[in-house]
Amino acid sequence: MNKKVILTIVGVLILIQLIRPGANKTEAPSPQALTAHYTVPDSVLTALKVACYNCHSNNTSYPWYDQVAPVSWFVAYHVSRGKKHLNFDEFEAYPVKRKLKRLKDISESVEEGTMPISSYTWMHSEAVLTASQKKLIITWSDSLHHQIEDTTKAAL
Ligand code: HEC
Repeated sequence: MNKKVILTIVGVLILIQLIRPGANKTEAPSPQALTAHYTVPDSVLTALKVACYNCHSNNTSYPWYDQVAPVSWFVAYHVSRGKKHLNFDEFEAYPVKRKLKRLKDISESVEEGTMPISSYTWMHSEAVLTASQKKLIITWSDSLHHQIEDTTKAAL
């Protein structure tokens, strides 16, 4: 490659850094957070925080490489899509039916290994769940599913 081409590539890489997506950050704890209304054992919460919360809550932690365009654009895209499907910080605002569906989806996606998404674990190896963490999450979400189902049935 000649010098001109290299300089152009470097220039483009520098220029695209100017396009910065807004960060997913909230200072105050959410009153609608799942953790404010239901018991989540520490071991489960730790696993969810490290493997899921970056895309499914109102707070994402951004290591430096997640702040560099174009990676930062993919991160922003995943966070906005992820939050739309499931937001642990808005869980209490969901209608019962949606809560139950999401808990089932959590168990299934963890069981099948579709969450966290593989393009994420490729860069964030700390988010790879161990077999025992998977089991903890599935047992917890199944039992919360039963709990919510039982209490809403009792209220009918
Ligand atoms: C890198 C971002 C990212 C991480 C980390 C992540 N997800 Fe997701 N999640 C998404 C996106 C994006 C979607 C939207 C559906 C899709 O594009 O596949 C989604 C969808 C979901 C859904 C809804 C599925 C459906 O059928 O609607 C559930 C449940 C879910 N994720 C659970 C989890 C759990 C549990 C974890 C942690 C073990 C996790 N996710 C980690 C990005 C992420």
